[in-house]
Amino acid sequence: MTTSAARFAQTLRRTGAGRTDLEPRLVGDGVRRFRDPAYRTHRLRPSPALVHQLEEIGSGAGAGAAPEFFESGGWYGLRLALARGTDVYGTGEVAGPLRRNGRTVSVWTTDAFGYDDTTEALYQAHPWVLGVRADGTAFGLLADSPRRGVISAGADLLMAFEGEPFAAYVIERDHPADVVRALTDLTGRAPLPPAWALGYHQCRWSYEPQSHVLEIASGFRSRRLPCDVLWLDIDYMDGFRVFTFDGEKFPDPAALNRELHSRGFKAVWMVDPGIKVDAGYDVYKSGHEGEHFVKDLDGNEFHGSVWPGPCAFPDFTRERTREWWAGLYAGYLSHGIDGVWNDMNEPAVFGLPGKTMPETNRHEADAGLGGPDSHARYHNLYGMQMVRATREGVRAARPGHRPFVLTRSNFLGGHRYAATWTGDNTSDWGHLHWSITMALNLGLSGQPFVGPDIGGFAGDATGHLFARWMGIGTLLPFARGHSIKGSKDHEPWSFGALSERICRLALERRYRLLPYFYTLFREASVSGLPVARPLFFADPADASLRGADDAFMLGDDVMVRAQVRPSGLCRAPMPRGRWARFEPAGEVEHELPELRLRAGAIVPLGPVMQHVGERALDPLTLVIHPDEHGRASGLLYEDAGDGFGYERGEFRLTRYEATVHHGRIALDSSVVEGGWGPREGAVRTVVLD
Ligand code: GLC
Repeated sequence: MTTSAARFAQTLRRTGAGRTDLEPRLVGDGVRRFRDPAYRTHRLRPSPALVHQLEEIGSGAGAGAAPEFFESGGWYGLRLALARGTDVYGTGEVAGPLRRNGRTVSVWTTDAFGYDDTTEALYQAHPWVLGVRADGTAFGLLADSPRRGVISAGADLLMAFEGEPFAAYVIERDHPADVVRALTDLTGRAPLPPAWALGYHQCRWSYEPQSHVLEIASGFRSRRLPCDVLWLDIDYMDGFRVFTFDGEKFPDPAALNRELHSRGFKAVWMVDPGIKVDAGYDVYKSGHEGEHFVKDLDGNEFHGSVWPGPCAFPDFTRERTREWWAGLYAGYLSHGIDGVWNDMNEPAVFGLPGKTMPETNRHEADAGLGGPDSHARYHNLYGMQMVRATREGVRAARPGHRPFVLTRSNFLGGHRYAATWTGDNTSDWGHLHWSITMALNLGLSGQPFVGPDIGGFAGDATGHLFARWMGIGTLLPFARGHSIKGSKDHEPWSFGALSERICRLALERRYRLLPYFYTLFREASVSGLPVARPLFFADPADASLRGADDAFMLGDDVMVRAQVRPSGLCRAPMPRGRWARFEPAGEVEHELPELRLRAGAIVPLGPVMQHVGERALDPLTLVIHPDEHGRASGLLYEDAGDGFGYERGEFRLTRYEATVHHGRIALDSSVVEGGWGPREGAVRTVVLD
């Protein structure tokens, strides 16, 4: 590689002898905290990634990987020797192959329109690496710094950050899944989303005016294409002033949302961080009067250009500003808005170097985040702190509902506040492929709720590409179609009858799989395990699976085998064991990914619906793939689908166990968790062999 972060990493590799921390602190079972011995007495600032400060429970070198620290030209870094056969994953949001060996990432949130697999800095910052050794045992390395950084995986693993020493946490486990669980012990779990957010979402830049949004809604319902959510991009606003509505194009947003609701849709509307500098605009006025905006080096309110022209930017690093921001949502959401989309929060600023604000800008951060400092220190946290505030605001404004917030930028641990999508991708086959690897590596970095712009954002899809993408995208955790202004129409019916038919089957599969998806999202909220997992989770010691990135797992039991090239089949090897094909939508369609179920597993399916609120789970279908002893088992999580009753035990987790002998099925079910009694209603069974 010839790009700058890669070259810089090489320079860092050549400098300075490493220092070893001979007395790491044990802060959890198999979790050790290391520090550069030269900075042992340096006071570390609170960590934004961690949910709570970690108490030391012991000391000593312990077993497993131990990094060496170094310092070079104001950069603080560590190196970790990688044993032969170690594969590297994680590092957050990255395009390209699943395995990150030989790759360098710049840890610096960036508006990366037009990115590809050579782009070093994308929208998010995740100073985190998962390593899987030849024998399948695994470790994780969290470099606890919010600073600009570089992660480079070569013969060794190098992580270095500008301007400030940091602590590193090393997690040792027997299985990579347990490393991700342990990571989320430290960084927290993604809260359970409302059930509607697991349905299909349709977006474009922009559906306008108001009447066109309803035409799109009718397009779905009249064609029997399942869809739960329609999205409103920036053009609904009055001159791109956030929290306002264009009086001509969107004269009555409440009526629009009411109409959408009556047709079974939810509505998610966009809110960007840039506040138009306009003395007659109440949001700007109250932000200015309350001194809520980021200042420049001279102490003046910083102004930079985004969509509305000159803007001021809330300083989300401060609690009183987050409270002000959260308070703006009450009136806004009272128009019947169901969820919020926070974009441009790297923060993106047009026309300035690096497409962001100057690093010399000042943040009045609270002590809990590290205290007042430059934008250089808080840049990577801007999006995360924004969605932290947004989530609070949404939660307070709709107390009976689970918040749904989507963000473009984020930092390690920010999955606690918002789901994410992989930004401005392109309508081509390479990006279709990366939508799998990006979702997987984000999942391995603790973020389970992720997906791409289905069909590709920039450029025009073809019917073939669009249908393939719909097939794959509806099997990823967050399933939303989206497209750039000026592109051709990118709705499921835009590319002719053949493409529409495949899209319908893909959407019907998604909706039939919703009980399984919901069960996996619940598992993610409890254990931190991603919903979509790499194939090697099925057998970490099998070296042939380590680079497989055109297939993935949903949970432990369902394998998705995708065709990511215009012709040719899935290339991923099969993990050991028996995996039987199954077809949730009933009809086999070769353009859709192949679905396989692990021997010994049961997957719960619901009926086809047009949106999740349409009908109950009846009938429930259990697809059973007996193991060599004729046995299979599986879980189903159910609750009200929204609200917080589940926190008070209003849910049920049912375990199904089946024994199949000579074609006869004995099915047993028991509620293993939750206060709800056993479910009533029809259960159908399908046995695979
Ligand atoms: C950014 C977003 C994109 C959105 C556009 C207009 O490019 O990434 O999704 O459509 O801004 O708001």
